[in-house]
This record gives sequence, C-alpha cells and structure tokens, in this order.
Amino acid sequence: MSTAKIGIVTVSDRASRGQYVDRGGPAVNDYLNQTLTSVWESCNRLIGDDQKTIEATLANLADEVGCCLIITTGGTGPAVRDVTPEATEAVCEKMMAGFGEQMRTVSLKHVPTAILSRQTAGIRGSSLIVNLPGSPKAISECLDAVFAAIPYCIDLIGGPFLETDPQRITAFRPKNL
Ligand code: MTE
Repeated sequence: MSTAKIGIVTVSDRASRGQYVDRGGPAVNDYLNQTLTSVWESCNRLIGDDQKTIEATLANLADEVGCCLIITTGGTGPAVRDVTPEATEAVCEKMMAGFGEQMRTVSLKHVPTAILSRQTAGIRGSSLIVNLPGSPKAISECLDAVFAAIPYCIDLIGGPFLETDPQRITAFRPKNL
C-alpha cells in the first residue's frame, strides 16, 4: 500500500516568527492521526501571511512533494494580511466552493463569527487543498463538517485510497466504486 502524503500548512506571521507556538499545525496532525486508518505521512510547513510564499508552498507540496491533500490553517479572515484563500485560488485549476459553504454552515452553530472566515478549497493537479481557520477549536469543527467527502474527492483526482475510522468519520463512496 502506498503512503499518502498530506501537507499541513500553518499560515501565521506571529507563529512563523516564533512569537507564539504553532497550535494549528499540531491540531491538524492530531485530527488526521485519530481519523485516518490507512498509512499516511505528514509534510508540515510553518510560514508567514505572504501570498507569494503561500502560493509557492502549496505548489511545492502539490507538484514536488506529491501530497494528495493539503490542509492550511490560518489567514482566512478579513484582516489585511489574511490572504490564504487568495493564494489557494491562484494555484488551483478548479475551486470546490462546497467545502467552504459547508464548513461555514456547521461552524455557525458554534460561533457567530464563523462568517468571518473566507475559507475555501480547490484542486491543483492531483491535490485537494482545503483551508481552515487558525483557531485549534475551528480545526476539528471544520474537518468534521467535510471529511466524509474527502476520500472520494481524492479518488476522483487520482490519489491514494484513504480509509477512515468509522467511529469518527465514515468516508462516503458511491456504491459502484
Ligand atoms: N470557525 C469555527 N468553526 N470556529 C471558530 O472559532 N473562528 C472564526 C472564523 N471561523 C472560528 C471559525 C473567526 S473569529 C475568524 S476571524 C475567522 O474564522 C478567520 O480566522 P483565521 O483568520 O484565523 O483564518
């Protein structure tokens, strides 16, 4: 069985300068460790809120490293330095707007400020890129909202067969697969 590579990108000026500890990247790692039962390997990056740097990091993880899934955390809000969605859109061939819509819908049940996240998702080659907000609490709330559809999306773009622990998330695949 081939090892699925998953990129985990923390986008934060302050964490990348060492002004505080990155809690978002480890929270995504923990979520995937608890959810995926198939073999996977994380490729972690910690970068500032600079659009060109985000674009180059996403392109490298997709094209060179060969990640089937890239999850970003942070930089989705309205502040002037929040540009993760713009960087994602700039490197993707197709946008997957349903991910952002569903994550915001579910997040609104937890916090009224969920509408401040412009998080989105898209496809670059054989990689699915998904944006999450920076708050560690948002990470599990948002991934729980969309993870059931991620393995099949990765099947459709030619990636490895991801399997999940049904006690956490049941991956939905149409029966004819
Ligand atoms: N979504 C969930 N599920 N939980 C949260 O706590 N925080 C919101 C929103 N989405 C939040 C959430 C807030 S306060 C902001 S400002 C935006 O995400 C953007 O966060 P970011 O700039 O860290 O990406």
